[in-house]
Amino acid sequence: MSLADRLQRRALERAQAQELRIRRVHGTRNGMHSTCDGRLLLNFSSNDYLGFAQHPAVVTAFQEAAGTYGVGSAGSALVSGFFAAHETLERTAAELFGYEACLYTGSGYLANTAILQTLLDVRSHCVQDKRNHACLLDGARHSGARLTRYPHSDTAAAESLCAKAETDNLFLVSDGVFSMDGDCADLSALSRIAKRYSATLMIDDAHGVGVCGKTGLGSVQAAGLSAAEVPLLVVPCGKALGGQGALILSQASIIEALIQSARPYLFSTSPAPAMAAAVTAALNVLQQEPEHHLRLRQTINDFTRAAKNAGLPLLPSSTAIQPLMAGSNARALYWSEALADRGIWLSAIRPPTVAQGQARLRITLTARHQPADIEHLVTALVEVVGDTHAPA
Ligand SMILES: Cc1ncc(COP(=O)(O)O)c(C=O)c1O
Repeated sequence: MSLADRLQRRALERAQAQELRIRRVHGTRNGMHSTCDGRLLLNFSSNDYLGFAQHPAVVTAFQEAAGTYGVGSAGSALVSGFFAAHETLERTAAELFGYEACLYTGSGYLANTAILQTLLDVRSHCVQDKRNHACLLDGARHSGARLTRYPHSDTAAAESLCAKAETDNLFLVSDGVFSMDGDCADLSALSRIAKRYSATLMIDDAHGVGVCGKTGLGSVQAAGLSAAEVPLLVVPCGKALGGQGALILSQASIIEALIQSARPYLFSTSPAPAMAAAVTAALNVLQQEPEHHLRLRQTINDFTRAAKNAGLPLLPSSTAIQPLMAGSNARALYWSEALADRGIWLSAIRPPTVAQGQARLRITLTARHQPADIEHLVTALVEVVGDTHAPA
């Protein structure tokens, strides 16, 4: 069978399982509204939790830096692609999060694979939560290290895996906030385990920064932990910071080792300097304008209270990610389409992003949603969830 035939057969199987993905074209964006396939929709699927992607200071920083540096960085960081804007971002982030050093990379996927492929080898052992983001699993797999995974949030199981590990290079790795469930890892427990078994604790806080912690510095701040207790923190910048790329925060010797030998960093064009300037501006806004973070917390409270009163079966979550389980792919797709008919964009999350039978609507809340938007969402959800025509 030719490659084309094989691919076509696989696409057909995907379509039959209702797992075919379609890229919807979003047009202009105004606050939380955007046009999608010609319809104006209110977006509840965005990771721009604080609305920083459209914050005037962030947009201006991006535009001004593009005027200064041009658009692309035109080289990897070690050749000619490391600009003053990158250096400023790394210095600002290290200081803000309380780490010795920072490395700004092109994406969260790249950051996590770079760390794990570089710092682990065949003699190492990596212990991970089963629901960690795909790039943490991929990074560990590609490193050749022994990878063992504990049932979601089961810290006793995490401890028992660490206890059994026979290596002097043990990593314990977790999301801070789980991307499809919205629940938080027990970082205090993970930190105690890491200490007991001399493991390096690595946290990916893509969905915690901007959302959790007293001043929005994320899950590590919320757990009251220090840089010494979480020696590797990854902050992808495409969520609450409204930009792109990722910050790796750690001690200077670890950052230097990554600069010297992390292949995904060395052999990849450095992110645009204008993006580095925009992310720096976003970090400054996070510090100087706490109202966005506080407003998001209020929106989360308003939504969860209204959803509970309306009897909507949400998964327990206190973060911006609020999952509503559909079960089957067919039902998740039906709900998503029915919501679009009501002016709401909420994409159906299906396998392989989640396990079979766990399809869902992943509702994301932002500081830009207004009380009327939340009311509209809850009313629409009650209608679609109660729709007796929906497939089982
Ligand atoms: C927990 C987590 N880590 C890493 C990533 C990857 O980050 P990026 O989109 O910057 O590659 C994502 C999101 O896509 C994520 O949800």
